[in-house]
Amino acid sequence: MAQRETWATRAGFILAAVGSAVGLGNVWRFPYQVGEFGGAAFLVVYLALIAVIGFPVILVEFTVGRYTDRNPVGALKQISTSSWQRIGWVFVVAGFVILSYYSVVAGWVLQYTVYGLQGNYAADGAAQFGATTGGMMSVLTHAIFMAAVIAVVGFGIRRGIEFSVKLMVPAIIILLAGLAIYAGTLSSAGEAYAYYLSPDLGTIAANWTSILPAAAAQAFFTLSLGMGVMITYASYLGEDRNLAKDAVIIVGLDTAIAFTVGLVAFPVLFSGDLAVADIVAIGDGPGFIFIALSQAFSNIPFGSVLGAVFFGTVTIAALSSAISIMEVVVSYLIDERGVDRIPATLLIGTAIFLFGVPVAYDGSLSWLTVYDELANNILLILGALLLSIYIGWIQTDIGLEELGKGIRNLGGWGTAWIWALRVPVVVTLVVILGLNAIGAYEAISGIIG
Ligand code: PHE
Repeated sequence: MAQRETWATRAGFILAAVGSAVGLGNVWRFPYQVGEFGGAAFLVVYLALIAVIGFPVILVEFTVGRYTDRNPVGALKQISTSSWQRIGWVFVVAGFVILSYYSVVAGWVLQYTVYGLQGNYAADGAAQFGATTGGMMSVLTHAIFMAAVIAVVGFGIRRGIEFSVKLMVPAIIILLAGLAIYAGTLSSAGEAYAYYLSPDLGTIAANWTSILPAAAAQAFFTLSLGMGVMITYASYLGEDRNLAKDAVIIVGLDTAIAFTVGLVAFPVLFSGDLAVADIVAIGDGPGFIFIALSQAFSNIPFGSVLGAVFFGTVTIAALSSAISIMEVVVSYLIDERGVDRIPATLLIGTAIFLFGVPVAYDGSLSWLTVYDELANNILLILGALLLSIYIGWIQTDIGLEELGKGIRNLGGWGTAWIWALRVPVVVTLVVILGLNAIGAYEAISGIIG
């Protein structure tokens, strides 16, 4: 078998991980969650959870990936001889399903970039969204997006992924910073900042049972955890790097970018005559950035240009995330089945495209809900939970040994990390999984029944 690829530079690894983390989760999911769960109150809980849960779990994936130099299925086979091995499969299946609809949503984002270029945001955002999200056009944009993913991943780690993220991630940061500055000049910026930035402790105390799981799920999704992406990316790393330091940079940048998206979205929404209640009324995830923001863009000065830049940035962010999901599945075929990269990429890419066609074609969003509930809310959390239990309680030495490499003096930090996994991470994930399982059952039986 050919020698396994590695990242050419430390920056390449960090940018790839940041590119994976920053995506539809930051731009599409985050502002909506803030809107639904009490503005700044949500923000505070989310930031706390990134530190308490997100950071320890990203280190689990990093240590397992670098320790084994394998894709998630191979990695778990290497560190376990018992049924814990199957966790690797949970990751690969979750990746397959999530990419199939992630690409559909990214295709809509692409379409909204085109609407902006054409000066075409409708005052009736809901009607435009309905016309975009079903039928052949939606299948076509899904195909275009998947073709781009296949192209990047087909070129491999250095020439495909590393090269493209070195262009994409700086572009995302510059474009978003520019948008945030412009948004600050809009008429209602002050009011929007007040909503976004002054937490009301009373709101947190009164609603913590809903805020906590929502904020934890968001922290997870945005850091690309529970799908083996960080295992796979860390498997292309050399031994000498300080994983904890890289994790701080990656988590910090992802959080800063999500925060900046709020600095763009809320001023635009408040200035475009949409109150928070309207935003929430527009409905769950899928509608949010499309309906609320495009409607707002149709109402503010230079809205179309701004909208094209905004949705264009989101398309890039979605691409740099989608390639990471694809790499999980492709690396499985390469490592475990000995398939060459290009046929592996074409095969998996086509299969994922076909699996996503029902989601793309069906305008009712029912398929989207079914896929999302099962893969994102259940498989992703389940995979992360099981792996955290395995490293936190069962194979502690693997985690500690690997974390210690590249760190001169780990001191008590290793133990602190293991205890963070053992109790706060495991307890929170069990609670979220339970709540999500109930939610998924209700959502899916509502659709089928
Ligand atoms: N983190 C990505 C985002 O915020 C989504 C993602 C989840 C990517 C899991 C990879 C794995 O859009």
